[in-house]
Order: sequence, then structure tokens, then C-alpha cells
Amino acid sequence: MKERSLSEADVVAALKTYTPTGRKDEYYIFASGGHGGNLIVVGVPSMRILKYIGVFTPEPWQGYGYGDDGTREVLAGGRVHGRDITWGDMHHPALSETNGQYDGEFIFVNDKANPRVAVVNLKDFETEQIITSNLIESEHGATFVTPNTDYVIETSQYPAPLGGEYADIKEYNDKYRGAMIFWRFDRAKRRIVKDESFAIELPPYMQDLADAGKLTSDGWAFCNSINTERATGGNLEGQPPLESGSTQNDMDYFHVINWKKAAEVAKTAGKTKMIAGMKVITLDTAISEGLLHFIPEPKSPHGVDVTPDGEDIVVGGKLDTHATVYNFKKIQALIEAKKYEAKDPYGVPILPYQDAIRGQVELGLGPLHTQFDDKGFAYTSLFIETKVAKWNVKELKLVEKISTHYNIGHLVAAEGDTVSPDGKYLVAMNKWALDRFAPVGPLLPQNFQLIDLDGSGNGGKMQLLYDMPLPLGEPHNAQMIKADKLKPWDIYKPVGMDPTTKEHSPNTVEGGKERIERKGDTVHVYMTAIRSHFTPDIIRVKQGDKVQIHLTSLEQAHDATHGFALDSHNINISLEPGEHSDISFVADKAGVFPMYCTEFCSALHLEMAGYFLVEPKGKK
Ligand code: CUA
Repeated sequence: MKERSLSEADVVAALKTYTPTGRKDEYYIFASGGHGGNLIVVGVPSMRILKYIGVFTPEPWQGYGYGDDGTREVLAGGRVHGRDITWGDMHHPALSETNGQYDGEFIFVNDKANPRVAVVNLKDFETEQIITSNLIESEHGATFVTPNTDYVIETSQYPAPLGGEYADIKEYNDKYRGAMIFWRFDRAKRRIVKDESFAIELPPYMQDLADAGKLTSDGWAFCNSINTERATGGNLEGQPPLESGSTQNDMDYFHVINWKKAAEVAKTAGKTKMIAGMKVITLDTAISEGLLHFIPEPKSPHGVDVTPDGEDIVVGGKLDTHATVYNFKKIQALIEAKKYEAKDPYGVPILPYQDAIRGQVELGLGPLHTQFDDKGFAYTSLFIETKVAKWNVKELKLVEKISTHYNIGHLVAAEGDTVSPDGKYLVAMNKWALDRFAPVGPLLPQNFQLIDLDGSGNGGKMQLLYDMPLPLGEPHNAQMIKADKLKPWDIYKPVGMDPTTKEHSPNTVEGGKERIERKGDTVHVYMTAIRSHFTPDIIRVKQGDKVQIHLTSLEQAHDATHGFALDSHNINISLEPGEHSDISFVADKAGVFPMYCTEFCSALHLEMAGYFLVEPKGKK
């Protein structure tokens, strides 16, 4: 301790986090990779990074988008208005749930910038689907799942004409709209089904974070909004900038949505309108069917989090010092009694604020997001104060605060947004790790800070245990799940599975049946990989030929991953044991191209290589 200038608290922190070689972590964190468009898998309490999962962005190590037809098709699902998008602004991962508990089967993530949602299978930690609606132009309140993962919620942020149409911003009030999309997830198919999904049109406020009700409030969704002023910016056109135009009102509108009823309405003929191939319940229908109500909420809110029992909904107001606790039963009573204090300019009924809340708790400056533990406490991030506030949900009383470094945004507690949180650990996700790590230039790493909630080494108080720099985008939000809930596969079995379809590929190549076949202008190469050679290891084609390589790894040992790289063709795929990949391209350049294995798979890994020969056109 003396030699390294460590305090007793430091040593307690070390004892609580040090994880000897071979010992596994108690929890997984699935953190968004921010601008990286990928997911980051981290072990808790060691805070060791375990994996990046390519989602919205091609990922070369996993061969995601680098030649493998299946993954290229997944990425193509994320084309927006027909354009390839090779990055994402990933924000909010959501683990699949069964009865409001994480079930460890899937994780969903969103891309705020190019509104998209992805499905990642936790059997092999691979992205299976990316879907976009072309209905909205940006989003934020995504992804949030309903308690049995029937729907994945995606809510727009910056209003725009629905469906990608043009309208001048002077027509903002009439032509610009928001929407909450309910993507139907078919668990058996492992896919979001667009035809069974629907959206609800919303007024052009900037809808922000959302959450799905649970237990008492199951069947309902909640969403914040900012900019109920409907400011549009235009600071070169004589208008105030958005930041001042959008913060004039003392209250914005908390959105209360009956999604179960909306799902029925969406199935009724004549009740929806098709926009950009998406079933949309118009604002008028949403109002006349009683699907949408507003309640005033304190100035420029951000996070909305439903308590584990589903009874209350906690809203953090960025420009208010309180967390406001809405009560679901009170809201229901107001809706049933049709007790409206007013209607918004679009006719949405507004319920009286004072009658809808259970109370407020003063927490400090800039409350954002809230997580829960197993003992009736809530933990709210305070962005401006850069602290986490612990408070008693029942009594609405502040208990203690702990400092973070710096600018905390989201925070994640162990199973902290399920019906039965675990307590124990909380991770503060901080924006800029000013002065925490060795300097690396002007762009600072982000900082995950692990906080001990049981306080057993700190007299019952929260204790900071560990700082973890994250150097890849802004990992916005995360989910923390008990490690034993996940049952990932070791290998693909039987040999020949295509990870994208999770089915035995019709192109699987059996050992001994490798061959090269020409069909018209297409050369099919049926190829296998096994330590330490490809068969065939020489491929001859003619310039201009279409080439399809069908490549099966015959391996079934857990430690036998191969890669396949082809020089000058931007092809690099990963071949995990038993995996089958199809690779298609055109051999348009004559020449000699080495191909080799990119994983150090054996002592003779360097010899796991071959030649791809492209004979010039017209050569006899
Ligand atoms: Cu196979 Cu290196």
C-alpha cells in the first residue's frame, strides 16, 4: 500500500474487483459502442472487455460486412432511403425480456442518427437483423422492449415530414411530425416483422426517451418530450437558436400511450394509413381512440424510467432539480374520468399534473436517468453536478450522493430496469474522462465507473471501485445481466451452419467433396478449412468471372477459429468452428492473389494459404 500510495479504500476496491486468471465475471454489461455502431461486452466486476459485436458498422475481425454474403445482407437491411450507411450513433441497448425479466436470448440496439433497430442473437453474439422504417429521420427513445418482448419501441427525436417527404421548415407546425414505432418481434423467427409492426403519429415536439410499462402498467408506454415550444432554430434567419427557443416553457409534455389498445387498433381495417410502407395510426385516430394522453412535466426532461413494480414512472428534468414521480393508478383514474385540464394545439387531451404525480424528490443539478435496486432505492444520474443520487422510492427521500468523473449520462445497475433488480453494482457512464487517465490528445476517452452499491467495505455507503476508459465512440447506455442467464454456444453444430440464418446452409461442403464448378460465367468454389489448410488451395478463374466461394469450416474444437483473407478484394471473413460462409465477388482484375488464414490457428498457421489466379481476358 505504502509503495503505491494506496489508501484502505483503494485496497477494498481492489479486493472487490480483482479477478484472478480463469475466474469468470458475475455479470455481463452490454454497452452501446456509440459512434462505433457496435456493441461492447464487458465483465463485471473486473471491467474486462470481452467482445465487440459488429452491428451497424462493418467489423473486420468478425468478417462482418467484408465478403460474407450473410452479414452483407444484414448490413443492407440498414440502408436508409436506398443508401448504405456504414456508421451508427448507437444509444440504448435493450435485452429481451420474459415476464419483465432478462431472458438472455437477444439484445436490441438503436441508431439515433439513421433511425434503425438491430437484433443481436446472444447464442453467438452476432447481429442477425437491421431494420429501418424510412418513416422518421432520427430517433432517440429506442430501443425499449415490452415485458415479453412482443414489441421493440423506437421513438423519433427531431420531427420531420413522415416518410421522407419535403416541406419547408416554415411549415413545421402543419407538416412536421414525430412517431412512436412499435416493431413486432417474432421470437420463433428471431426477427422483427415489419408487416406486423405499426407506428403512432405524434405532434412535432421532440420526443425523447421512452420506457415500457410493466406489471401494473403493462400495456402502456411512456415517453418524454422537449421543445413543446415547437422552436425550429434559424439563427441566421432572425430566429433564436434551438437551445433558447426550446426552453421557454416551464413544462413540457409527458406522453402516455396505450400500446396494447393501439396494437388492436392497428389490426382494424381502415384505422391506419400506409406511409413509407409502414402502418401508421394518425394523430386524429390516436386521439379519438383514446390511445394518447399528455401530462405536463418539468422543463426539458430527459430520462423516463418505470419502477420495478410498474406503479410509478420517474422523470428526470435536465433544467429542474427534481425527479418527478408519476403514479400509474392516478393516471388511469384521470383517463377514466376524462379529467382533462386542456388540449394541446393538435387536440391531445392533457391530464392535470398535480393529480397525476405521487410527488417529487429534490436530487440536485441536472437529473437524467434512474435505475433501481432490490431494496427500494433508486439511483439517478446528475449530469451538471456529476454525481449519482441514491434515494428512497417509497418515501421520496434523498439518501446519499457519490461523485463521478465527469458529466455522467446514463447509469446501469445490475438488472436495474427489470421487475426484480439485483442491486450490488452500478456503472456510471461518464462523457469525458478529464484528468483520469494518461493524456491521449484532445479527444478524451469515455469513462465507465464501477460503483459498489452494498457498501460493505465503506460503512454502508456507495463506493467507487474502478475506472474503465472506453476508447471507441460514446458508449451511451448499457444493460447489466447476471452472467449465468446467458448460454452462448461454443461452436456451430452440426458443421455447416450459417450464423445469419442459424440453419444448415444448403451450400455446406463436406470433407472430401471439395470441388470447383463452372456454371456459365460463374465459378463456384466448394471449399473447406481445417487445421491447417484450405481445400482447394489453388483457384483458377478468368478475368470477368463471377466467383462464389462456399466455405465450410470442418472444425468442431472450441479453439479452432480460422479466417479467410483474399488480397486486393476487401475480403476477410471469420470462420468459427463449424461455420459456413458464402462469398461472392467479380474477379475483374487479372493477377495472382494470395489467400490465407487470418487467425493464428496452429503452428502451421502461416502455411494455411493458397493462390487465387485470375487469368487475363483473351489469354489462350
Ligand atoms: Cu487457420 Cu491460421
